[in-house]
Amino acid sequence: MGNLYDGLNEQMNFELESAYIYATMAAYLNDQGMPGMTHFMDLQVKEEVSHAERIRGFLREVGYSVKYRPLDPGTGEFESITDVFAKALEHEKLVTARIHELVKQAREEGDQRVLNCLTWFVDEQIEEEDKFTGLLERAQRINGNWAGLYQFDHILSKRELD
Ligand code: FEO
Repeated sequence: MGNLYDGLNEQMNFELESAYIYATMAAYLNDQGMPGMTHFMDLQVKEEVSHAERIRGFLREVGYSVKYRPLDPGTGEFESITDVFAKALEHEKLVTARIHELVKQAREEGDQRVLNCLTWFVDEQIEEEDKFTGLLERAQRINGNWAGLYQFDHILSKRELD
């Protein structure tokens, strides 16, 4: 197990990488002619950047020297709109697992201030998984039907930054 603060720094980078991955999803959805879904993913990119900034803020406050690494956006290839939401949910599950690993380490080290910072992320990940679980179920039910997809697209065009 590495240094807890290095782990948090890595999580900051991972949140930025998440933004990058969601940007590839937004690009795919735009190519599919789905402006509402694209808007939704554009906001998801911003949300991930805000997650990274939250960790960066904490690390700065405790005097840790933040480091950045290159980001990997993945292949940017998707089989379908449903595949985008499936991959998004899969990605959020990975984020959750990483947050929980950090919580475990912080508990073992008795680092209350890191635990306080991570509590927000534990709650946030419940929302993130719930959001993409719902969207994936909807996409699966629509099953490529154009009328359904356009209605879904319209609903997602209403998302505001949360
Ligand atoms: Fe920052 Fe979507 O987890």
